[in-house]
Formats: sequence, C-alpha cells, structure tokens
Amino acid sequence: MPRPRQVTTCSGSLVLDDRTSIAFEDDPAVRPIALRLGRWLGIDASRVVPIAHASPDPEKGIVLRASTPRAGRDPAVSLPRDVEEEAYALDVSGARAVVRARTAAGLAYGSQTLAQLAGVRPIVGGTGVASPSPLPCVHIDDAPRFAFRAMHLDVARHFFDKQTIERFVDLLSFYRFNVFHWHLTDDQGFRLAIRSHPELTNVGARRQENGVETGGFYTQDEAREVVAFAKERFVTVVPEVETPGHARAILASHPELSCTGKTMEVPATWGIFEDVLCAGNDATYALLDDVLGEVAEVFPSKLIHVGGDEVPKTRWEACPKCRARMKSQHLSSEALGGYFMHRVRESLGKRGRRALAWDEVLEMGSADDAVVVAWQGAERGAKAARDGHDVIMAPHEFVYFNKRQSRSGAEPGHDEYLPLSRVLGFDPMPAGLSPSEAAHVLGGQGALWTEFVRTPEDVDTLLMPRLAALSEALWSVPVADATAREASFASRSRAQRSMMDRAGIGYFVNPPVGLRAKQTFLDQAQITLALPSLYTDGIVRFTTDGRDPTPSSPAFVSPVDLKDTTSVAARLFLPSGRTSPVVRGVFERTTPSPAMPAPLASLQPGVNYTYVEGDFRRLPDFAKLVGRRGRLPALGFDPSFRKERFAVLYEGFLDVPETGVYRFVATSDDGVALEIDGRRILEDDGTHPERDSDGDIALAAGRHAVRIPYFQGTMGKALSITMEGPHFARAPMPIVASFNTRK
Ligand code: ACM
Ligand code: ZN
Repeated sequence: MPRPRQVTTCSGSLVLDDRTSIAFEDDPAVRPIALRLGRWLGIDASRVVPIAHASPDPEKGIVLRASTPRAGRDPAVSLPRDVEEEAYALDVSGARAVVRARTAAGLAYGSQTLAQLAGVRPIVGGTGVASPSPLPCVHIDDAPRFAFRAMHLDVARHFFDKQTIERFVDLLSFYRFNVFHWHLTDDQGFRLAIRSHPELTNVGARRQENGVETGGFYTQDEAREVVAFAKERFVTVVPEVETPGHARAILASHPELSCTGKTMEVPATWGIFEDVLCAGNDATYALLDDVLGEVAEVFPSKLIHVGGDEVPKTRWEACPKCRARMKSQHLSSEALGGYFMHRVRESLGKRGRRALAWDEVLEMGSADDAVVVAWQGAERGAKAARDGHDVIMAPHEFVYFNKRQSRSGAEPGHDEYLPLSRVLGFDPMPAGLSPSEAAHVLGGQGALWTEFVRTPEDVDTLLMPRLAALSEALWSVPVADATAREASFASRSRAQRSMMDRAGIGYFVNPPVGLRAKQTFLDQAQITLALPSLYTDGIVRFTTDGRDPTPSSPAFVSPVDLKDTTSVAARLFLPSGRTSPVVRGVFERTTPSPAMPAPLASLQPGVNYTYVEGDFRRLPDFAKLVGRRGRLPALGFDPSFRKERFAVLYEGFLDVPETGVYRFVATSDDGVALEIDGRRILEDDGTHPERDSDGDIALAAGRHAVRIPYFQGTMGKALSITMEGPHFARAPMPIVASFNTRK
C-alpha cells in the first residue's frame, strides 16, 4: 500500500536469511537507504556493500540501483517536478531482488515496497520486531499519480511532542506521502519558539483547560530535527503560521495588534473568533515579518503556509486603523484581507519562498502566486484551477480525519461521519477541467484538526486506516468501481495491520454490523450480526444482559432467536487484541397499534399541512401556533413556502395492508419527527445537514393517523420518508388524506 501502478506476479520466492547481502549503487545518497533497508530486514551492516556504477548486478541477494541518485531535488526544500522522479521498478526472482530507480527518492520507495512484501517495515517508536517473510516472485513498475501528497496535523488545539511528530512523519513516509503540513499556530496555541519574540510561546503556548494548564511548544532545534528526520524519508515539512484569523494566541501577548486593543487570554474554546490581527496596523506586518524570517531559517521548504481561512471582517469594519487603510488603498473589507495576505506574501517572497493559503483567498481578490489549499469542497479547487492557481485538493467531505469513522460516537473527533469508503472514493482531480487547468492540480492532502484529539492514541484512532486509503487516492491509478476498490483495499489491509500492530500504531476497528438502536417485533425476532468487511479475521462477541462484551462473552456464530424484549450489545475483537466500540440495540416486543375504525377507501394520496414562518432552531409545539393551512399531493414543499425559516406540520393517514412491523427512514434538513397513532417513532431535531433517521412500529392492518412536524432553518432543505414492511418493499411512505373536510 499504496497500490502500485503495475504488478506482475510469477512463481517462486526469495528467502531472506543470514547470508543475504544488500549491494547498493556507490553513492552517498543511496548508502543510508541501503543501511535502513538492512536494519528493517535484519541484515548486518557488514553485508550492506557498495558496488561501482559500471559493475554488473550481483547474481544473488538484494540490489539497489539508482541511475542519477544525486541529481534529484533536496526533499527538505521542494517537491518533485515530475512524478517519474519518484518512480521505481522492483524485480524479485528466486535468487535476487533488484530495485531500480532514477533518483534516491524512487529507490527509497522501492525499498519500502520490498520491506512491505517481507512484512517488516517498522515505524519509528514501535517495539515489535519480525523476521522477514520470503519475498514473492514479482515485477512491480510503480510511480505516483500526484507529485504533492500531504497530510496535515494541528498541534495548536492540542500539543504533540517531537517524538509523536516523528512517529507521525515516519507513518506518512510508510504510505509514501511526501509533505507534512505542520499547523503550528491557531487561536488556542502558538507552538514554535521565535527568538526575537519569546512572548509568543511564553504566553501563547499555554492555556487553561478545565482549570488545568495545558500547552507546549517546539524549540527551533527540535523543529530542525523534525525537518532532518523528514528529509531522510523524502518528506518536506511545510510549516503553517495562521494569519490574519485564528490568531488569538498571538493577540494574547500582543493586544496592541488587535483592532480593539483589549487584553484577551488564549482561548480554551473552539470556533471562529471575531478578534483577528489588525490589518491597518503596520506593527502587525512587522511582527509577522520577524516570525516568518525565523520560520524560513528553520524550515528550508520552498512552500510556507500562511493561513487565510475563516476571517470575520467585523472588527476591521469598526476599527479606525483598518478603515483608514481601506480608504487609502481603496479597498472593501473583503479586499483588505487580500491586502493583508499580499503583505504577508511579501515577507515570504523576499526570502525566496512561496505561500500556500486556504481557499478563502480566492474571494480576497489577490491570491497571486499562492498555492490554494481547497478545503471547502472540490468545486473550490476546480475554481482555483480555472482561475489559474496551483491547487492542493483537501475537500473536508473526503479528507478531514477529525470527522468520525463510524456512527458509534466513540471516537474522539467532530460529530460528523467520514467512513473509510468515502476516503477510498476520493478523486483529487476535479471533473471537467481542461488539460491546462488540470495541470494546476498538484495533488491532495488530508487534515487532522485536534480540538477533540488529545493523545497520540487519539491521533492513531482517527488517522488509521483512512490515512492508508488517502495514500491510494493520491498515489494509485483510480479504480472506478467502488466494490472492486474496497475489495482490493480489504484484501491487502490485513498484512498492513500486522505491521501496524508490531509498530504500536493504533487504528479504528469498525463495530459489528446489523444491529439497530431499536427493533420492534411481534412474536419472534432474530439477532443477526456480521463482520465489517475490513476485519473478516475478527470475532463478534455479544451480551444480552446490558453489559459491555468482553473476550469471554459468547461469540456470535449463527442467528439467535428471541421471544422477549432484549437489550443486545456487540463488539468486534481482533486477534491482535484490538476491539471496536460497543454497539447497542434493543429488540422490543410489542402488540400492534390498532387500526382506526374508518373504512379503507375514499381518501386520496396527499397530505394536509399547517405552515408557520419563524426563525426555528427546534421543532415547535404546533398546538401553540396558528398557521396557514393547505394541501399537497405528496409530502414535500409547496411553492408558496419560502426558502428559509419556517415550520410545517403535515397530517394524513397511512393504510397498511397487513399486520406487522413497519420501518420508516426520514431524510431531512433540518428537524423532523414522525408520529403514528400519537406515538413519536422517529425524531431528528435541531438544525443539521441532509441526513437519515429511522424508526419502526407494529401496526394492525388498516388505517393509522400520521403527523410529521418539520422545520427549515437556513440554507439547504430536504424532507422525504420511506416505508418498508412485510410484503412491502422500501418505497416512499404512501400517505393519504381527506381533502374535503378542510377549509
Ligand atoms: C479549515 O478547515 N478552516 C481550513
Ligand atoms: Zn484594525
């Protein structure tokens, strides 16, 4: 992993033993790669030997050949210009394994592939050692799809020490990422010591969280060590200094650089703060010039990230200094942001560096030569490319690993859902670009924001295995069919997992599938639980007494019949000892809700509604509201409804043909509930994006009263409900209503 461009297998294998040697192209750039491969494979340094460029390949053992090892770029400074620069070929036969590449970077990747095939590529900081497996006979021809393959880590919201950072970088290099985007500053922390401004970390690197002081920062020596560590692994460290927003940690020691001049602490809460760096004060630019000057000394990277996202303009609009600057420069407050970013880029430009910035700079009117990091969506990246900017694709809906991998709620992330399959389906190349526009798409990057991530274990849980999936999106030739893509990933992931287990790298384990939060039944039900597709070597264990399953709880082997109301808890156990979160469900025995005495005929498809306008955030109590009444041919929105800020109560009837349990799925944006015969069987209240919620009820054959309260806050709106029952395949809920009785 990531999946190579071309793999041809052959029969036989190469056994690595204590006579195996490594012969390497005699070059100072190749020696460390050969020695590291030797350490991974347990080959003594005395058997890692240089061979002259002109000499033929040895007949036996491992051979590393690079045609122009030193001609490559400096990986601490810049990216490959051409993906073939990182290409390699690996040939394994019964006698020898030969890695050929043009550059040292290619050779390092080829060596890693060889070590992965032997099952022994360790991660720095891991403890386990393994003896190498025989190398299967194979020919691999490999090169990345994109030249820029990055992962970001936020160390401002929570601090991670240098050791954790190096382990993170080694894991990136394992999956052939070549950029580490180090988010060093934000509202909640300034994490790099600046010699000329020690107050930035003395004040800005600490804060109170629940009455306890937390914090930390890197000395410049530590940061240089990380740069050197990354360089050995062909990873460029791109530091980020966030401006002009997300800068409260700077304002904590420099209140004079805010628009109000008020003293502010380093905040321990999250979000978008109105207080940003004052754009009308030249002292702001002077401080940032000092900071970026030292950043440029520590980080040789050609690219330096200067932020630019989520900048409220309210303080600027009220600030005499900012207003004066807008007036003298003939700028709107939005364009003042562009002016700010331009001034910051000047600090980089005079040091021969180029800016990376979040995609908000597209609206600020002067992105200039900045490389745009498109985080707000793929369409933003396409816009950047069409506008002629180099762009890195980081759309949050595909690559923000601070969102949870499951719906169990057990992970330390934001309460949003980003499953592995979505990352695997990420195509960094936006659709519809011309070849010249597409040439601006340099690659992609993932992000890990750490508001809710406190420990290295939390980092692993959110990162893995999605990081591996992202590496395939960035490196490998895309597989269009989702089923084939996921099967391929799953088939290769068990070997990866053994390496992660030995390295002490954690990963998220999906819970068993098949359990619903509530499942209603009449006479008899069955517990059925299945393995998640990635973990077919796991064992599902379950309990029916409400407790969390343990390694001694019964294993699920076949469906379990139930006659009474039962609470089920299930959890996956892997051979490594890792476990999934616990998932719970209640099987509830009920009697059918009786039908109304009305005949089944005479009503027509459709609903009656009561419509009320207002700024709702929750479902209102319609009994207390007076609304406008009307009718619709189906559940939905009447053209007379406005776009935003209203609530509707839909009312009608449901005729069911036979007695049984019926299940409903509501898709809504925003709040919705479903009541049948006066019982609320489904509810997803509050403002939220379009999403599903479900519930079920046992109904007697015949007619039942239906009420559906709904509200629309702002932006997107959606409402639909499907039904599924005995002999009734899932379809839109067939609501009927009387249209004669209403005025
Ligand atoms: C971001 O997520 N605000 C770049
Ligand atoms: Zn100001």
